[in-house]
Amino acid sequence: MAKAKTGDILSLIEIDHGEVEQLFEKIQKEKSAKKIQELFSQIYQELTLHARAEELVFYPAMREYEETEELIEEAEEEHNAAKILLEEMKQLGSDDEEFKTKLMHLIESVQHHVQEEEEEIFSAVRGSMEDEELQALGQEFQEAKAKVEPDVKTASPAAR
Ligand SMILES: [Fe+2]
Ligand SMILES: [Fe+2]
Repeated sequence: MAKAKTGDILSLIEIDHGEVEQLFEKIQKEKSAKKIQELFSQIYQELTLHARAEELVFYPAMREYEETEELIEEAEEEHNAAKILLEEMKQLGSDDEEFKTKLMHLIESVQHHVQEEEEEIFSAVRGSMEDEELQALGQEFQEAKAKVEPDVKTASPAAR
């Protein structure tokens, strides 16, 4: 990958998506309730940080284009659905029977959401934004994550 590309917002989002996918694979293979709880805490933090940064930086920028406006509205609804699931799972804890069902539901809906982001939203973005703009948004995306991180850590299941 060319050096100038490493900080563009689309690559940063893709990296996050890949990390969450790896955590999903790990948590599905894990048998120990304690380790599942630890992985869930990581998933909770990664997903929350990522979603907040998208909501603060990426989605507002995308709303300015007619092609993406509707997609963004749908994406925001999907974020809300994932947030509700994460909070419910946090309350239950990994030793509850319902936790697994909710986890499968979460994985399925996040995978669907990621696919829509990477296919539909990204292609619309590539058609309407300049490289420089994507780099600048990448910078803002990183800053937004750093800014919300302390709050997300406090709210995470590990902090209980
Ligand atoms: Fe998203
Ligand atoms: Fe995303």
